[in-house]
Amino acid sequence: MADAPTLAALRAAAFAAMENAYAPYSKFRVGAALLAPTGEIVAGCNVENSAYPAGTCAERVAVGAAVVRGLRHFTHVVVATEASAPTPPCGICRQVLSELAPECLVISVTRGGAEAQWRLAELLPHPFTPSLLRDE
Ligand code: THU
Repeated sequence: MADAPTLAALRAAAFAAMENAYAPYSKFRVGAALLAPTGEIVAGCNVENSAYPAGTCAERVAVGAAVVRGLRHFTHVVVATEASAPTPPCGICRQVLSELAPECLVISVTRGGAEAQWRLAELLPHPFTPSLLRDE
């Protein structure tokens, strides 16, 4: 588990990213912040589109931004929303996180101060893994 100042920085990064969310259709703003083992924090927000399925979740935007920076492993992800209850990542994001952060702790926080956390393995107990691509 990351130390308290690091977790506070992760929460702050997730909320700051949420402020930049582009969510004119759902009005559901989401920010996500990933923590790499190096201590680096990379954030993302949801980016919606008038062609609705083309929109992307905050978690996947954060993963893409982190990979661009050369980061491919994460220990924690904080998801921030303005919902009343903490929200876990959607199914696609669970699968994406399982590739680069299979052991990660997912912490969901709300503007109102509600918080929940899960291990990714609890949220996605049977991910599709690279080894399943080949019968070796
Ligand atoms: N959304 C996220 O960004 N992350 C999630 O884990 C759940 C949903 C976004 C997608 C869409 O822009 C909006 O929230 C409503 O579904």
